[in-house]
Amino acid sequence: MRHLLIIVGMFAASMSWLIWICRVVDPSTRYGSKVEYNYARYCAGCHGPNGEGNGRIGRFKKLDPANMTKADFWDNRSDEQLIHSIDAGKDDMPAFFYYLTNEEQWEILTFIKENFRPTPVPN
Ligand code: HEC
Repeated sequence: MRHLLIIVGMFAASMSWLIWICRVVDPSTRYGSKVEYNYARYCAGCHGPNGEGNGRIGRFKKLDPANMTKADFWDNRSDEQLIHSIDAGKDDMPAFFYYLTNEEQWEILTFIKENFRPTPVPN
């Protein structure tokens, strides 16, 4: 009986590295927050990790994704319009209503604003 316990114990110990490996390999554990992960997963491929519109897919397919680090991008668009584009797609940009809830889309928009939007200069 004791031998059985020892064997089970050793087996469990020898498997613990698997949990560690899974955490390292699972991309969702690499990001600080859910919204960061969602941006990286759904948007960065085209818009780039820093929102400059230079993601790999975007460049490769010559889609010309919006550069969200430019002031005039923000001057010319309302939040509702941007959410609509994310939800329903726009030209070469796919629609995301299927993948992201309305709430998640607003979270991403807030994330984009906080991280990529240049600080507005008062006129
Ligand atoms: C397949 C590439 C691709 C992916 C993935 C993608 N976009 Fe886009 N996005 C584009 C392109 C291309 C445009 C420019 C569309 C235009 O101006 O006609 C664009 C434009 C936009 C705009 C500006 C829309 C407007 O009204 O001018 C926003 C905001 C935006 N994307 C956010 C996102 C967000 C958030 C995600 C992730 C959920 C995302 N995009 C994923 C390609 C992509």
